[in-house]
Amino acid sequence: MSVQDSNPRHVAIIMDGNGRWAKKRHLPRAMGHQKGGEAVRRAVKACSKYGIECLTLYAFSSENWKRGEEEVGDLMNLMKKFIGSDLEDFIANGIRLRILGDYTAFEPEIVALLEDALERTKAGKQTLAVALNYGSQQEIARAARLAADQGEISPETIAANLYTADLPPLDLLIRTSGEIRLSNFLLWQSAYAEMYFTEVLWPDFGEQDLKLALDEFARRERRFGGR
Ligand code: FPP
Repeated sequence: MSVQDSNPRHVAIIMDGNGRWAKKRHLPRAMGHQKGGEAVRRAVKACSKYGIECLTLYAFSSENWKRGEEEVGDLMNLMKKFIGSDLEDFIANGIRLRILGDYTAFEPEIVALLEDALERTKAGKQTLAVALNYGSQQEIARAARLAADQGEISPETIAANLYTADLPPLDLLIRTSGEIRLSNFLLWQSAYAEMYFTEVLWPDFGEQDLKLALDEFARRERRFGGR
């Protein structure tokens, strides 16, 4: 299938609504996250199909530690399972894994799995960037500190020290489940991104929902501050 010129190069998604999806069905929250993992798989496939160079997903924020120990444990287990089940597919399909955030705070077993996955997928041409233990304000403060150490603080030197420095500029930011806020995600990178909010809960999000967002993106006229 041909790739449309009007497609974004870099799409980011705030995957929200797993808990509400489960609650509506009287299921445990863990089930919502599990179904959310399936939606991740669909989103990665759909982005490949539409030729999107980079998909960034907000999987675990630096504030998510405040959730109960059990829920944090469920999310960690899901991550382990996901890497176990999907890593070979990523390698076969040319998907390069990237991590945004300080993932070294996770348990050693997960850190080792992530580092192995980063190494084994590094030749991939399309990028799946996963934000883990990520907070945008922390990222900007860290980048400013590094830029200062290098001798100059400017928009360019800060951008060069963000986790996203080598990724294409963010074009489209999607948030599911009807919430209309950025929740400390990619604040710097969103400066000129188009925003797309949908009521669809993340576990229900599929290729058609992504297509609707891409169609809306293609209709928008981007001016980057010009007229
Ligand atoms: C928001 O739903 C979702 C999260 C905090 C976690 C996102 C994680 C996944 C989709 C799991 C899979 C990820 C990978 C990379 C395997 P919520 O619990 O805040 O929903 P609610 O607002 O309805 O309670």
